Amino acid sequence: MLRRFLAAQFARPTGVLGRLWIAPWLDRISRNMNALALAELAPATGERIVEIGFGGGALLRDILSRTDAAVFGVDVSAVAVARAERRFRREARLHLSQASVERLPLPDALVDAAVSVNSLYFWPDLAAAFAELARVIRPGGRLVLAFEPPEELRKWPGHVHGFRGVAADALIGLALAAGFEAPRVREGRGRKPDRFLCLSLTRVADRGGE
Ligand SMILES: C[S@@+](CC[C@H](N)C(=O)[O-])C[C@H]1O[C@@H](n2cnc3c(N)ncnc32)[C@H](O)[C@@H]1O
Repeated sequence: MLRRFLAAQFARPTGVLGRLWIAPWLDRISRNMNALALAELAPATGERIVEIGFGGGALLRDILSRTDAAVFGVDVSAVAVARAERRFRREARLHLSQASVERLPLPDALVDAAVSVNSLYFWPDLAAAFAELARVIRPGGRLVLAFEPPEELRKWPGHVHGFRGVAADALIGLALAAGFEAPRVREGRGRKPDRFLCLSLTRVADRGGE
């Protein structure tokens, strides 16, 4: 019962508990993964960055505090968005939306890079998600995905209530089919999760009508 409740909250924080308990907890759980994702993202001056599934907002905070990027945060959870709106109310560089990854409310080729941590387990259609990410990332831009591999997810029994573990190879196959190239996987270590992966890809550059 508790595991089912927690799994549903991790997939989409809701209600008072989602706002006051789950969102701050996610920020702590994901600290090591956020750090690796930010290092891989390596934002450059003046870039536009989107984070998908920002949850408690710790990575949004780090991107905002360490870069001058214009930041777009998209999350399917109304609670996550409302909480971030309050938390970052003074941040003119941050633009928040409630939406799902396969229907991003962003124009074509808007961003230089997209990042997502611990969210893809819940994306309803991974192929559609990669196609949409390819649409909003400019040619030559970057995609960074940090996630627990299936064998790590399985260590928590609650994963059966809605988590979909996806192997890095399967993600890479989908990403290449959607218009990304140059996949690179880095491994991170921590405690709960003990091991996680960060997949970085480049959006195929325009090849002049090739
Ligand atoms: C486990 S939390 C991870 C939050 C944060 N990235 C972290 O690592 O702490 C998953 C987040 O992804 C969001 N999410 C789930 N499905 C989504 C979707 N289809 N599109 C966008 N966000 C989604 C959830 O609302 C939640 O905030």
